[in-house]
Amino acid sequence: MKYSPACKLLFLILTITCKIETQVKCMKFNFSKFNGDSNLYLNYSDIAFEALQVTPEARGAPITNLSGRTVYKDRFRLWRKGKKSTFNTTFVINIKNQTEFGGEGLAFVLTPEKNVPQNSSGMWLGLMNERTNGTRESRIVAVEFDTRKNHPDDLDGNHVALNVNNINSVVQESLSSRGITINSSIDFTAHVRYDGKNLSVYVSRNPEVHDQRNLVFSWPIDLSAYLPENVYIGFTASTSDFTQLNCVKSWSFEGLEVDGDRNIWLWSLWIITPTVCAVVIGAFLCGLYLRSRSKAGETNPDIEAELDNCGAHPQKFKLRELKRATGNFSGENKLGQGGFGMVFKGKWEGRDIAVKRVSEKSRQGKQEFISEIKTIGNLNHRNLVKLLGWCYERKEFLLVYEYMPNGSLDRYVFVEDKSSSNLKWETRKHIIRGISQALEYLHNGCEKRILHRDIKASNVMLDSDFNAKLGDFGLARMIQQSEMTHHSTNEIAGTPGYMAPETFLNGRATVETDVYAFGVLMLEVVSGKKPSYVLVKENESNYKNSIVNWLWELYRNGTIMDAADPRMGSLFDEEEMKSVLLLGLACCHPNPNLRPSMKTVLKVLTGETSPPNVPTERPAFVWPVMPPSFGVVDYSLTGSQDITELTGR
Ligand SMILES: *[C@@H]1O[C@H](CO)[C@@H](O)[C@H](O)[C@H]1NC(C)=O
Ligand SMILES: *[C@@H]1O[C@H](CO)[C@@H](O)[C@H](O)[C@H]1NC(C)=O
Ligand SMILES: *[C@@H]1O[C@H](CO)[C@@H](O)[C@H](O)[C@H]1NC(C)=O
Ligand SMILES: *[C@@H]1O[C@H](CO)[C@@H](O)[C@H](O)[C@H]1NC(C)=O
Ligand SMILES: *[C@@H]1O[C@H](CO)[C@@H](O)[C@H](O)[C@H]1NC(C)=O
Ligand SMILES: *[C@@H]1O[C@H](CO)[C@@H](O)[C@H](O)[C@H]1NC(C)=O
Ligand SMILES: *[C@@H]1O[C@H](CO)[C@@H](O)[C@H](O)[C@H]1NC(C)=O
Ligand SMILES: *[C@@H]1O[C@H](CO)[C@@H](O)[C@H](O)[C@H]1NC(C)=O
Ligand SMILES: *[C@@H]1O[C@H](CO)[C@@H](O)[C@H](O)[C@H]1NC(C)=O
Ligand SMILES: *[C@@H]1O[C@H](CO)[C@@H](O)[C@H](O)[C@H]1NC(C)=O
Ligand SMILES: *[C@@H]1O[C@H](CO)[C@@H](O)[C@H](O)[C@H]1NC(C)=O
Ligand SMILES: *[C@@H]1O[C@H](CO)[C@@H](O)[C@H](O)[C@H]1NC(C)=O
Repeated sequence: MKYSPACKLLFLILTITCKIETQVKCMKFNFSKFNGDSNLYLNYSDIAFEALQVTPEARGAPITNLSGRTVYKDRFRLWRKGKKSTFNTTFVINIKNQTEFGGEGLAFVLTPEKNVPQNSSGMWLGLMNERTNGTRESRIVAVEFDTRKNHPDDLDGNHVALNVNNINSVVQESLSSRGITINSSIDFTAHVRYDGKNLSVYVSRNPEVHDQRNLVFSWPIDLSAYLPENVYIGFTASTSDFTQLNCVKSWSFEGLEVDGDRNIWLWSLWIITPTVCAVVIGAFLCGLYLRSRSKAGETNPDIEAELDNCGAHPQKFKLRELKRATGNFSGENKLGQGGFGMVFKGKWEGRDIAVKRVSEKSRQGKQEFISEIKTIGNLNHRNLVKLLGWCYERKEFLLVYEYMPNGSLDRYVFVEDKSSSNLKWETRKHIIRGISQALEYLHNGCEKRILHRDIKASNVMLDSDFNAKLGDFGLARMIQQSEMTHHSTNEIAGTPGYMAPETFLNGRATVETDVYAFGVLMLEVVSGKKPSYVLVKENESNYKNSIVNWLWELYRNGTIMDAADPRMGSLFDEEEMKSVLLLGLACCHPNPNLRPSMKTVLKVLTGETSPPNVPTERPAFVWPVMPPSFGVVDYSLTGSQDITELTGR
């Protein structure tokens, strides 16, 4: 298909507009002291003694159990379309006790909310409250200067820490060894820097110096994963029965923002006239063009145009052909319930096919339909289920796949499932390798990176030679390879038991969440266990009873080989088995940054390298933050609780 010249022109103009849009601009201010400045928004905070009193002193009245917040009046654009802003900020803090012992602390915050949350006094530091702690609802990233050890996870009463939607910090460092006591009524300078990748905090008595010598911590974090595009920047603080004056005496900020819409209009003036003209002409011509096309074909022009655009060429079927092939989608021919619709067996031109009928109720059905055709239409790999064709007629969305006579993997591996047959170690290895090759291809092998987003045993099909083929791309979304730093898409998807812990917090599918799910699948295939034995609540995947925890415990006990499916007897190579189990654990590392890539996974499976090192204790510390269901698990692993529940119930 060829575009008309007007369409091309339109496209060109849009491209230019986009280029301008991503230019950066600066947000900058410098308060060397505070004098009732109208550029600040104060919520339960005040300006007095030329300083910000983040927990206000009400002329000597007690300031117990208070929290307050001060933010700069304009919001800062933190990110936009995968591009991230950077910033540097420097502030001088002075904290003085008002009771014998002071409390509780001050924090520099990034948040969309300019008012302090209710019930956020005391240990909550004005960041969140008991209800929102640990949830996405708190929407806050903060650098806290904590002057009170008020829960067991606090290092001491004199530390700096990074908090991400949670009062439990992701990283904390005591300042005691640096000769700084936060609560001692001295001025000290803190410098916070974000370069789009790492958030670094420097603390010093000397206001001029912020270099390697007084770096407190530097922590890799993608702020766009936790915060909306525009955020307020400022401070919050709180007191409890112990009170202190939480003062900020000066504050400068300099941020390079990815540009928003404001400057755009200025720029656009230059091209606005030609754009309007071109849009009108272009729309007219495109309209004519599409109308002429839709007369020619009988199916929906939008979808066909969309398909033509991405160069996919699976075959187009007619609805009545598929009805005939599947006996009017009769119950007898039903193969199962797939990702977003039912699957039927059919016969077409003497060949067995599987027809997926996308349910009309599926809210994003059309979107998914197009996405799936686009995605699979271009793929060709022996470990991926092949898409033969598609049909879109009378609001019916249908996909035609090659037929897999031996069904899905979940019918074979599970011990508990009496009807499932034993697979030899060689077969299991072959299956694991097949899936890993498919996934490696999706992640790194095609032009555009593709996330599978729903890897699980029932999505792995087996052909008559037990070659594994990954199917069901209903949830796959394309991501440009160039957006590597922002390789995530925005919608929670997946199956409990296979979902990486961070998914519950940021709800994002990433390359690493695919690797996690693959790790779980590997462990299943080797052990014959289901990914999670029991599901306690619908909304949180049950980590306590998960296969990952069970395995980690065996590993810690030095009995990891017990994980092997007993049906295999001892008919396997111990070294190989161990290597596969450790690789599975490595893929399920709670810290997504420490999971191996699919490339590495393949190398380990082919024996090119040895499996990555896995800590014998399941790391108690979870990056980005501890999901709610995690606390329980970690305590049990420190041995304070018995673990009978693991296999019980
Ligand atoms: C802020 O202003 C003060 C006093 O005018 C100056 O000494 C300081 O260097 C400025 N800070 C920045 C980051 O520009
Ligand atoms: C402050 O809060 C604590 C804990 O909620 C409570 O025990 C105490 O009575 C409160 N103090 C005042 C003065 O309200
Ligand atoms: C922050 O400071 C670093 C080091 O001085 C500098 O390289 C960087 O450009 C600054 N960034 C901004 C946004 O001012
Ligand atoms: C603040 O702490 C100092 C040193 O611990 C103590 O001497 C002083 O009395 C405290 N201030 C108040 C108001 O309690
Ligand atoms: C200040 O902090 C130190 C270290 O946590 C603590 O020992 C001391 O009691 C605190 N002083 C006051 C007045 O709270
Ligand atoms: C401060 O925030 C609270 C919400 O926590 C809000 O109800 C109140 O109106 C705000 N106060 C001011 C002065 O804006
Ligand atoms: C704050 O605490 C009070 C008393 O415990 C409670 O009634 C109220 O619902 C809480 N507010 C929020 C927003 O949690
Ligand atoms: C905050 O939430 C985390 C879980 O996300 C939990 O472990 C922690 O105990 C909570 N903190 C408090 C003080 O309740
Ligand atoms: C981020 O910090 C880590 C150390 O904490 C360092 O190894 C890494 O190079 C830093 N990354 C960037 C982009 O500065
Ligand atoms: C399918 O339905 C049509 C009418 O709805 C009927 O004529 C045809 O015989 C049916 N075919 C089969 C295989 O049931
Ligand atoms: C797998 O498929 C082949 C060919 O259809 C068949 O002969 C074989 O019995 C199947 N194996 C199992 C375990 O279902
Ligand atoms: C690990 O060892 C402990 C103590 O010997 C035992 O109670 C526990 O059941 C073992 N865990 C597993 C999963 O076998």
